[in-house]
Amino acid sequence: MDPIQANTRARKLRLQLEQHNQLYYLDAAPEISDADYDSLMNQLKAIEAEHPVLQVADSPTQRVGGKPLAGFQTIRHPVKMLSIEDIHQLKEDEVHHSGNDNDKGLIDWFERFQRNLGQKNFELTVEPKIDGVAVAIMYRNGVLDYAATRGDGSTGDDITQNIKTIRSIPLKLPGHAPQTFEVRGEVFMHNADFNKLNDERHAEGMQAFINPRNATAGTLKQLDSRIVATRPLDLIFHSFGTVDKFSFTTIDQFHELLPTLNLKADKWFRLIDDLPSLRVAIHELDKERHAFSYATDGAVIKVNEIALHQHLGSTSKYPRWACAFKFCPEQKETLLKSISIQVGRTGVLTPVAELSPIFISGTTVSRATLHNEEEMKRKDVRVGDIVIVEKAGEIIPAVVKVIPEKRPNDSKPFNLFEHVGGKCPSCGGNISQAEGFIAWKCTNFTCPEKTVTRLKHFGSRRMLDLEGLGDALAEKLVDSGIIKGPMELFKLSTEDLADLHLAPARLQSGEDSKPRRFGEKKAYLLTASIDKSKSLPLDKWLFALGIPAVGESAAVECSRLHESFTKVANSDVLHFIAERGEKESWLKANPLSPKKEEISQEEKAYRMEIATEFKPRVRILSDKLAPFKISPELGGVAANELINFFASDCGKETLHAIEEMGIDPKSANYSPRPGDDLEGTGGTLPFESMTWVITGTLSQSRDHFKELILQKGGKVSGSISQKTSCLLTGDNAGSKLRKAESLGVTIVTEEQFDRMLEQ
Ligand code: IVH
Repeated sequence: MDPIQANTRARKLRLQLEQHNQLYYLDAAPEISDADYDSLMNQLKAIEAEHPVLQVADSPTQRVGGKPLAGFQTIRHPVKMLSIEDIHQLKEDEVHHSGNDNDKGLIDWFERFQRNLGQKNFELTVEPKIDGVAVAIMYRNGVLDYAATRGDGSTGDDITQNIKTIRSIPLKLPGHAPQTFEVRGEVFMHNADFNKLNDERHAEGMQAFINPRNATAGTLKQLDSRIVATRPLDLIFHSFGTVDKFSFTTIDQFHELLPTLNLKADKWFRLIDDLPSLRVAIHELDKERHAFSYATDGAVIKVNEIALHQHLGSTSKYPRWACAFKFCPEQKETLLKSISIQVGRTGVLTPVAELSPIFISGTTVSRATLHNEEEMKRKDVRVGDIVIVEKAGEIIPAVVKVIPEKRPNDSKPFNLFEHVGGKCPSCGGNISQAEGFIAWKCTNFTCPEKTVTRLKHFGSRRMLDLEGLGDALAEKLVDSGIIKGPMELFKLSTEDLADLHLAPARLQSGEDSKPRRFGEKKAYLLTASIDKSKSLPLDKWLFALGIPAVGESAAVECSRLHESFTKVANSDVLHFIAERGEKESWLKANPLSPKKEEISQEEKAYRMEIATEFKPRVRILSDKLAPFKISPELGGVAANELINFFASDCGKETLHAIEEMGIDPKSANYSPRPGDDLEGTGGTLPFESMTWVITGTLSQSRDHFKELILQKGGKVSGSISQKTSCLLTGDNAGSKLRKAESLGVTIVTEEQFDRMLEQ
């Protein structure tokens, strides 16, 4: 690789690694396996080793593992947290080839175990192996003292704050609990909660979690326990570490003790005493587990008598008194008939495999997510392929791989852009792929698929804070065609809202409630907050509209520069910012003597010609903008998006709607030329909190006087009211002057005005 290629490759790898790091550590939604991550990292390490100049300080190779984890304290486990020896159920084809029973591993283990023990009379327990994340929770004197992950078995991370957010875990135990009681269990997400969480993430444009275990592991890694509190975690206790006084001598007694201490134990539990009943129990579990509300991937078999645990001891890794019998996930072959593209609530395009229906692990599967284009390329999935499908974590159907030998001769690699003809399949809008991101997105602001997201954004706390406008209501309003955009909320009456029937809610038990009526009380509160939102300041409104690139800071800066909503719609400043931004970006992207690329003479001449035109223009625009001291938070891209919004149908409809409501949201921080205004005034402006009206013929244009009033901190209104502080009058003043006189408003001539300014 030459240095230029190496640099390009290294930059791409860094971008990818950083993105996966973020998906893993911050979003807890890994898109690639650890092995794939390591392979990318190794490629980058190799390039940096070969080209030491590329070893930059912010390369992911400099910080293996990522920052957030550094925040957890570590805790030493008083009793080592061992893992369990796995034995595997044989797959159907292995059974076929070897002529063995598919319980062979189990039978071997049982016989070996019996020999080790040296006795025939013993009992074993069988429990579901929960596919979650192990934690140890210490209760001292009945109070939850700490919670720790397994870590390397000897020390783990202190995740007490995260664990405390799990409502099913008691913070205090009843009086009969041992004084020192370290209980261990599995944290997990119920399948239904997991699906709901993923739906929500999808709606918010976030990457979906791959399976409940990944979602759980990622959640427990969060340093911010407020995020953890929003995630639906649960825990089932299955074992113990250190205990100061045993009130139980067997595993089944421990299992019975747990619920008396309000500690959740698995409902499925068997006590057996010979091999045939062990095999029956395991097969029953394999059948029944598909109906469980959480994922299981095997059975844990333990010796019931705790005294025998010490007798049997453990290897360096596993106890000799337990084993985990792993069920093999059911996999089936089927035809991938076609690929459809789903448009998410934020416009993300997700490819979905349409399959010939097939029965796997208890349900018929006819669709499977293909995640994204990159994942499809990695597996080289094509229409017409015979694919192997399994339920990842026994829940979500996934395409594991394709069978290349069965591929039709005329098959073509999949290309998402071509597949949808470059257009959003929902609204026909353009699609684009943001730099460094894998997903394609619909760029049409008013794509109907995005309406629910726009509505929820509009009503959320930091925007217009509309009480009770939750997911279910937003979905109901949009999906049943009641409203087509946020501004239509203002047309809803309390009665309209009260009568709506929302989708069922998920109850604590994991079951669904009956469909709910929104009801009068909530409807009243919502309409009251919709009414209240009309008087919220301009920045909240600008932020709430969800205009691309207009976040909170851009909205606040825009509201500093404009008095009201309609002023933003007719702004000159925004045009200047947008034009300067566009021209500057062009100049940056098309340098006259690029460092990295070779350009032809024609290209150079062309760039020179454009630069000769652009550079002086940028200077003029910068001079014009200088007095406004505009923060970079409101850059060219945001200014452009604002202009586009107000020029679009949606923007025009919004303007029309606010006009109909008789409002024009006002800036709460209006101060367009901060430096100029405050100079020599000691910080307070002479016309602060004064409202002026201008009338009659003056020596200069009304805009000239208006500008002067604004600069001195005053406001200018078009009509006289009780609130008017002063009327600036010129020659031939008419009705306004009469009204001002009748209301007792101070009347100021141009001469007096000039004197006021001088003072
Ligand atoms: S007992 C030394 N019971 O599986 C044995 N573990 O692969 C102590 N697990 O580390 C654990 N369900 O985190 C036990 N019913 C169950 C379990 C279970 C899941 C986990 C546990 C363990 C891992 C071993």
